[in-house]
Amino acid sequence: MGFNSKPKSFVKRRGRITANQKKALDSLWNQYIINDVSHIQEFLNGRYSLLDIGFGAGETLISIAQKNKDISLLGAEVYLSGIGSVLSKADRFNLNNIRVVNEDAEDLLQYKIPNKSLDTIIMFYPDPWPKRKHHKRRLIREEFIALLNMKLKPSGIFYFKTDWKDYFNVVSRLFDEDPSWKELNLQDLEEELSDIPPTSFENKAIRANRSLNTKIVRKIN
Ligand SMILES: C[S@@+](CC[C@H](N)C(=O)[O-])C[C@H]1O[C@@H](n2cnc3c(N)ncnc32)[C@H](O)[C@@H]1O
Repeated sequence: MGFNSKPKSFVKRRGRITANQKKALDSLWNQYIINDVSHIQEFLNGRYSLLDIGFGAGETLISIAQKNKDISLLGAEVYLSGIGSVLSKADRFNLNNIRVVNEDAEDLLQYKIPNKSLDTIIMFYPDPWPKRKHHKRRLIREEFIALLNMKLKPSGIFYFKTDWKDYFNVVSRLFDEDPSWKELNLQDLEEELSDIPPTSFENKAIRANRSLNTKIVRKIN
């Protein structure tokens, strides 16, 4: 199945946008949102670059950006409420190392991110689509892993977390069976990645006694 015919990993809905998020979206859109391939390329070029896929409320993006001013952080999110939160915080904390793409991350990777341009891609708690009939909506499958491989620089890192064991097992096996990846432990990572505070989504999963599963892999050459 090609990328275009694949069912989406999200459902189009507007969602609730707070007054603060709306204000940030209205006033900061042009400053932080990028669409053009050339702007994306320019933003990623020449610095350590990280893509956060489905950043939700953006806690991870903001936290890494605050502690690592020398990293270029690109976030992909389809829902405006989360984007509004990130824009508002980026402005409040005066962060100039964040840009946001309001687009399906898969389209972004396929059409707008140059090959071998990212040092790290993180994907924390993507929607697990638990029902079997919806598994085809899950983002990570063989073709998506090939896309990650193409967009990461040599030795680039993919860092995945999920509270859904069966999704984890499938993803873990796909990487284990692919000789172009080597598994890493949290201790193998530099501080900017090993010291990421849990998001509210992760804390909710912990309170609900759901298991937290992590897969970290490095692209071999
Ligand atoms: C469960 S939330 C996790 C948020 C965040 N990563 C965290 O750890 O708290 C998953 C997010 O992925 C976003 N999402 C789902 N499919 C996406 C896609 N194809 N491209 C970009 N974002 C997507 C959803 O809108 C949602 O905000």
